[in-house]
Amino acid sequence: MALIAGCRTPFAKAGTVYRDLTAVDLARACVRELVERSEADPAWIDTVVMGQVIPSIAAPNLAREVVLGTGLPVSIPAHTVNRACASAGEAIAEVVDEIRDGHAAVGIAGGAESLSDIPILHSRRMAKALVEASKARTLGGKLKAFSKLRPKDLAPQTPAIAEPSTGLTMGQSAEKMAKENGISREEQDWIAYLSHRNAAAGVDDGRLTAEMCTVLLPPRYETAVSVDNLIRRDTTPEALAALPPVFDKKYGTVTAGNASPLTDGAAAVLLMSESRAKEEGLAPLAFVRSWAVAAVDPGGQLLMGPGIAIPKALDRAGLELADMDLIEMHEAFAAQVASNIQALESPQWAKEKLGRSEPVGKVDRDKLNVMGGSIAVGHPFGATGARIATTLANELKRRKGRYGLLSICAQGGMGFAMVLER
Ligand SMILES: CC(C)(COP(=O)(O)OP(=O)(O)OC[C@H]1O[C@@H](n2cnc3c(N)ncnc32)[C@H](O)[C@@H]1OP(=O)(O)O)[C@@H](O)C(=O)NCCC(=O)NCCS
Repeated sequence: MALIAGCRTPFAKAGTVYRDLTAVDLARACVRELVERSEADPAWIDTVVMGQVIPSIAAPNLAREVVLGTGLPVSIPAHTVNRACASAGEAIAEVVDEIRDGHAAVGIAGGAESLSDIPILHSRRMAKALVEASKARTLGGKLKAFSKLRPKDLAPQTPAIAEPSTGLTMGQSAEKMAKENGISREEQDWIAYLSHRNAAAGVDDGRLTAEMCTVLLPPRYETAVSVDNLIRRDTTPEALAALPPVFDKKYGTVTAGNASPLTDGAAAVLLMSESRAKEEGLAPLAFVRSWAVAAVDPGGQLLMGPGIAIPKALDRAGLELADMDLIEMHEAFAAQVASNIQALESPQWAKEKLGRSEPVGKVDRDKLNVMGGSIAVGHPFGATGARIATTLANELKRRKGRYGLLSICAQGGMGFAMVLER
């Protein structure tokens, strides 16, 4: 399956430049640009699949709103998927499968998230009272519906970035992993430092900015956002070491510096069957060779899914970790990256979790996240998979590499991995 092109919006810290935009606005901006840049005729597109983790109640099927708002033919069916932080990866996998099954020849896959525009809900008791009041025929009846409410029922409910089955936040889960796997603060801060350093280099030489479209801001649409606003080019290991832990204030090691930030943004890729790409005279950036998902018990170490999904995707590709020219690991937290690398290199992990006698292999750090990762660039949950696939494909081409691996950890103990080939 051919990956023809990828594009994303600049990513921004939630509540900053995109605070007046929605995930749909961001997704439309990036898909519009993707179609233009790839020189695809919109009439070719058979399917659009997008990821979103916290959908808006006004537009829950983001993908279809993208089709309807970007001048794409209204006849393109579109659906939205949620595999937590791996949602855009899942969207890519679904379009790949649709093409492989012959149900589509050309598709767009990606995702978006606006943490500036999360649904803020009433409590269940307040919602019940509102429904009861709406049905009451008299003023007395309406007032009676609210009479049972307590002050705490008036408090708004916001989505928690926490595991529903355990109640632990993602950050607390990363802390648990750091402690149980002996991941030091120094190692976490070093991963974070490299993330910013590599991303800043990618902006300076234009490799990273080349993947971004420009987003015009309301109300006048005169101000343009054309670069990420989370990359800290001036950060140092010393500055990172000085930050206080956030999720375990006394004994913790996870800080605002070595965690991915809450982010707004969108990303998408154009996929096509190989034969169709040839027919249209388009040169693919890369080919999707395999993909896999896996899941672990969220009550154990939550973000270890990649440690199982990676060997599965490699097996399906008939390749070894050592064959990879580049590796892109989503950085939810530096502690999660380090923990998964440790697992891939561990004979014990291989034996106990994979039933193998040999470890999956050594991760060459020089090939890892060479244009930065989610810590520096940001992590709009629904979009990250398409951001990573685009970067991996572009960089494989630049380096004349053959194989690239990407992995994403996700809520629910899930992991996603994909192998690209050139
Ligand atoms: C960790 C988290 C709570 C921090 O949020 P925040 O407090 O808004 O973070 P900020 O950007 O304001 O950073 C806090 C401080 O650290 C500083 N800081 C952050 N990164 C830094 C860096 N790389 N170098 C130096 N200083 C840094 C900031 O300047 C700020 O300093 P100030 O308080 O003096 O202004 C938030 O990003 C978070 O919840 N992340 C995890 C998201 C998550 O769970 N995702 C799911 C992944 S699967």
